Formats: sequence, structure tokens, C-alpha cells
Amino acid sequence: MSRLVVVSNRVTLPGSQSAGGMAVALNAALQRNNGLWMGWSEKVKAEEEPSTLTEKEVGGITYALIDLSQKDLEDYYYGFANQILWPIFHNRADLAKYSEARESAYYRVNEMFADQLEQVLRQDDVIWVHDYHLIPLAEKLQQRGHKNRIGFFLHTPWPPADILSTLPNYNRLLRGLSCYDLVGFHTENDRNNFAECLRRQEWGELNGEDCRAYGNEFRCGVFPISIDTAEVARLAERDDDLPDSYCRFAGYDIAIGVDRLDYSKGIDNRIDAFNRFLRSNKHRRRKTLLLQITPKSRDKIPAYQAVEKAVAELVGRVDGELGSVGWVPVHYINQSLGQPELARLYRRARVGLVTPLRDGMNLVAKEYVAAQNPRDPGVLVLSRFAGAAGELGEAILVNPYDPEGMASAIETALDMTRDERIKRWSAMMERLREHDVYRWCDDFLSKLNAAPQGLTASLDP
Ligand code: G6P
Repeated sequence: MSRLVVVSNRVTLPGSQSAGGMAVALNAALQRNNGLWMGWSEKVKAEEEPSTLTEKEVGGITYALIDLSQKDLEDYYYGFANQILWPIFHNRADLAKYSEARESAYYRVNEMFADQLEQVLRQDDVIWVHDYHLIPLAEKLQQRGHKNRIGFFLHTPWPPADILSTLPNYNRLLRGLSCYDLVGFHTENDRNNFAECLRRQEWGELNGEDCRAYGNEFRCGVFPISIDTAEVARLAERDDDLPDSYCRFAGYDIAIGVDRLDYSKGIDNRIDAFNRFLRSNKHRRRKTLLLQITPKSRDKIPAYQAVEKAVAELVGRVDGELGSVGWVPVHYINQSLGQPELARLYRRARVGLVTPLRDGMNLVAKEYVAAQNPRDPGVLVLSRFAGAAGELGEAILVNPYDPEGMASAIETALDMTRDERIKRWSAMMERLREHDVYRWCDDFLSKLNAAPQGLTASLDP
């Protein structure tokens, strides 16, 4: 069996606090064949130091970690990846801050990844590259003569063609993707957007799963990512050792939001909607609260600083204007919590508010469902613009740009009968049990193993 090599910007070692379902599933797949996971070490090296790979082995898996310089971080990670690709992929071309320096740093760091990967790569390794930071990696490896089977999965949405075309040289990304054997998206919508981008290129086309562009043939599939459903359900059931702070919540109807502090998550829209809901439902005051758990993210970037300021001000205003002695309507916490604590909080919450303006999938939506008590489940209020909406149609689907609509969705959720809640929850939970993150991982890898090798295969003598 070939060895699996995973490459992503961030690497999650097993057992780490922040390990979500995806990291657990990837580690499980890597463990099956003594695989290797390569990515940034999260360390910063001096500018003049050459980049090297530090390898460490944990539980049969090799982690190959690469240091980046301050300049790499600024121009590649904070620059091209998170101030150009991230906003454009989330339909916020207005926030993209393009510069040639950032673009060239992106390709330079991808080259560095290819150089380092080359040091440890074996001929029959199967490579799985993750996310928008590393789109050019396959092309860079090909240019070095490597013919490994190689797949790519995008964890964000793929934008409509008109929005992608606001990026100067966007065709370099399309050409980069055409060098993979398999390109995976979360949803049909993302794949359709991608197909339209290909169609606009001379010679670009997509028929079913078969794509052709830039002289390459490759496959393109839809693989909605999922969670470790059984594990989330197991964690949520445990009610031993609850921290004392939970007692404060006894007797309240809790609506919960859990998001990285990111403008794509629509956190201010949600708090505004909760504020409207409380204003028009006076009888719910003092009995209901919004628990918004929001670890800070990418906080060197001005757009993130702006959203942080806007949310903090809004929370202060709502709590100041509506709160009273003994009741704080919005509990706003800039901390990240571990999976066990989150699972139990999800189960406590009557309403899960997952209302991003745009999101590739959104695993909070799935985790909220998996954590519910089957005999008395809470209600998921879910944005139509999250990839998860395609599979979780029994949630109350909302448009996050419609504040009144969201406020009345919260009301509907809190008023919903138990029978109705059980009916909706069971349908969603059945799907999540069947389609968990292990299944996602296996689906992608078996499609990758079955994909014909386009250009690389045709170059074989
Ligand atoms: C999103 C991206 C991931 C990224 C994560 C956290 O989910 O798709 O690739 O790792 O956000 O963001 P950060 O910039 O902290 O890695």
C-alpha cells in the first residue's frame, strides 16, 4: 500500500486541545500506513536562515515541520492567503488587498514547500494537499519531475467566476489546480462555480467529474466534510465534572454561537438579530441569553481588527441597554474551548445559531446537532450560505442579511414543540451518523486512488 502524505499550512498533532474531527480523521488515515504530515511549524525563523524540515514521529506518524520567516508570514500567510484569497473566496473582493509582492511570496513559499517535501518524498507516495494556502504545490512538484498521485481539497467556498476574476492573474490558480489528479470541493455550488471559471478559459471544460484545462486532464468532485459524530455525541452525554461556571446557566434558555472571530461569520449580524428578538419578545428577557464563544483569529489583519471592534461595541451596547442586575443578555468570550466542554455546552443550548455570511461547510452546525439529547433536542438556526445547509435542510434556514427574519427564526426555534424538534433532529442526525468525517476521508482517498493520472500519466514513456 502506498504511503499517504498530507500537506497543509497548519498541522495538528494527535491529542492537541484544538484537534477537531478533521485532524482526528486525517491522523487516523495517516496512522493506517505510517504516513507523513507536512506543514508550517508555527515557528518563525530568521530571514537569512535557510528553510529546513524538522521531523518528529508521534504514534507511527511522521510530522515534517517547516519554519517560515517573518516576511514569509506577512506576505504569504497574512498577505496573499488571508488578505487576498480568503476574502475573495468568501465573496468579499472589497476586502482583498492585492499586491505583486504578496502574490510572489505565495508562489515562493509554495516552492519552498515543494523543495522541502522533495527531501522526504518517496516515488509511490500518494499526496493530499489541503486548502487555499497551497494551491500551486502540485504544479511546483510536477516542475521538479515528480509524478506522484496528488489530490487537493478546498476547505473554503470556491467563488463565482466574476468574483474570482477580481484577482489579478487568477488563471495561475486555475492552472495550479489543473495539475492535481483530483480536486475536491464541499458542495455542488462550489464545483459549479469552478466549472464556470474553467469554461471561461480557452480549452477549459468540466463534464461530470472530468475536467480538462491548460492541457491537463483531472477529476473534480464534491466531498462535504463532516465530524466525528459518535465522538461528539459521546462527549456531550458526559455530565460529570461540569465546571462550576455552568451553574450560572441553570434555568436560562441558551442560544449558542461558536466561531473564529472572522468577518465571514456574520457575528455582528447575529448579535443584532438577538437584540431585535429580545426587543420584540419582552417575556423572554431575563430568561434567555446568547453565549457567543469567539476565539480571536488572524488579529494582525486590519479587517479582523475592525470586526473585533465592531462586535465588542455591539455586545457592550446590547448588554448595556437591555441587561439588568443579574442578567447579561450576550455572554461574549474571546477564548477557545476544548471539544469536551463545547459538546456539553451545545447540548445545554436550546438554539444553535450558525449564521455565517459565507462558509465552506461549517462544522459547528454539525457538532451542534450531534451533541443534542435525542429525547429533547435543541434547534439549529442555520445560514443558507453555509455549505452545511445542503445537508441540514431540517434546520431553520435563514438569510443572515435579513435581521428581522433571523430574529423571528430565534423565536420560532424557542417556541418549537418537542415532537417537531425530535422529528427535525432525527433526520439530520441519521445523515451525520452515516456520513461522518471518516467516511469523508475514505471517499476522497478512494476517488483519488481511482483517478486517472492526467498529464503525469501521459508523460510516462
Ligand atoms: C479555516 C481554514 C483553515 C484554517 C482555519 C484557521 O477553517 O479553512 O485552513 O486553518 O480557518 O485559520 P488559521 O489562519 O488560524 O489557520
